[in-house]
Amino acid sequence: MRLAIFPGSFDPITNGHLDIIRRAAPLFDQLTVVVLVNPDKRAVFPLERRLAFIRETVANLSNVNTAHFEGLLADYARASGARVVVRGLRTEADFLYEFQMAQINRQFNPAMETLCLMTAPQHAFISSGMVRQIAALGGDIAALVPPAIAADVAALCRPRTDQAPNE
Ligand code: PNS
Repeated sequence: MRLAIFPGSFDPITNGHLDIIRRAAPLFDQLTVVVLVNPDKRAVFPLERRLAFIRETVANLSNVNTAHFEGLLADYARASGARVVVRGLRTEADFLYEFQMAQINRQFNPAMETLCLMTAPQHAFISSGMVRQIAALGGDIAALVPPAIAADVAALCRPRTDQAPNE
């Protein structure tokens, strides 16, 4: 079995992530989308919500499943038997980050390879943070996240209306 994992924070999953999942899934027997902790980011959506968004998004992709893990990516890859870690590259800024991550991960798990797919140009500007910001300010995120989750993401990002506005 050729197993691969697609790790990330997915806070929330976006159309950019989905593009990578759709293109990577046919290259492997099984692709696991795994939610990990990024110590540099504070997650906004709770883990269960992020997982639920991913599950809804990949429901029709037969060889894609979901998981979560709180430790090192290199350890998860070893334990799951996956040799390939898939990541998406949007810009050259992403490259520097991915290059460093791939090197450090191989230090801890020499059997593991990182495979970067170039994000499709129409998704290259999308980030989870941008999605949250646009939704929170009342913008339309329909083109940025998978249709199945768009309404829920927007509703959860919207500020509560029972709070008095700041003067
Ligand atoms: O979607 P992100 O935030 O770019 O994903 C980054 C992630 C979660 C894959 C990365 O932070 C990670 O691998 N976290 C697990 C902890 C770990 O293994 N750290 C060492 C490699 S950076």
